[in-house]
Amino acid sequence: MNGISSSPSFPKLAGQYAEYIVKQLKDFQTGRRKHPIMNVMAEGLTENDLADIAAYFASNPTMQGDGTGGNQFAMDIFTRGDMTRNILPCQSCHGEAGKGKSSPAETRPVIGGQHRIYLREQLRNWRNGARNNSPNGVMNIIAKSLNDTEIDSLSNYISGL
Ligand code: HEC
Repeated sequence: MNGISSSPSFPKLAGQYAEYIVKQLKDFQTGRRKHPIMNVMAEGLTENDLADIAAYFASNPTMQGDGTGGNQFAMDIFTRGDMTRNILPCQSCHGEAGKGKSSPAETRPVIGGQHRIYLREQLRNWRNGARNNSPNGVMNIIAKSLNDTEIDSLSNYISGL
């Protein structure tokens, strides 16, 4: 186990911020984030378990893509956004190459190098509201402006970073 999941529907956690992993596990515990397996898995975990699990994954070398997802459209959205459609640049929060940022106020997860399929599923779920645990609904607002083709392009691009 090195935090690189072999199933593309489950996220890589290698090098993910510990604070982000803890938050997600707590969201699975309370049902704020829904997933048939994760809600059950997270149920019995104590505060100490959460911290240990998160520290373990965070200590692995950060996930990285193979650089094959490049496309101009996604790169523009990622680096510059599209203010005419309420899309803030992904990079402004998720950092250069999607390496994320952590501050006491809020942690923006690592997304660069994440599985393409997982990314696509998250963006679709943010868009249709099935996932709604981001602070102030920010990811729901952003994803609502993206169509299927754009979600695919972004997922390809980001997974390659
Ligand atoms: C204003 C800040 C902000 C911007 C801009 C932003 N995000 Fe996010 N994003 C977040 C935060 C905060 C989270 C974590 C939400 C949570 O706590 O569950 C997140 C979560 C995600 C996740 C889920 C990651 C995971 O491992 O579960 C994906 C995928 C994602 N963002 C993609 C994008 C893409 C693509 C863009 C650009 C189109 C973007 N984000 C723009 C703040 C932002």
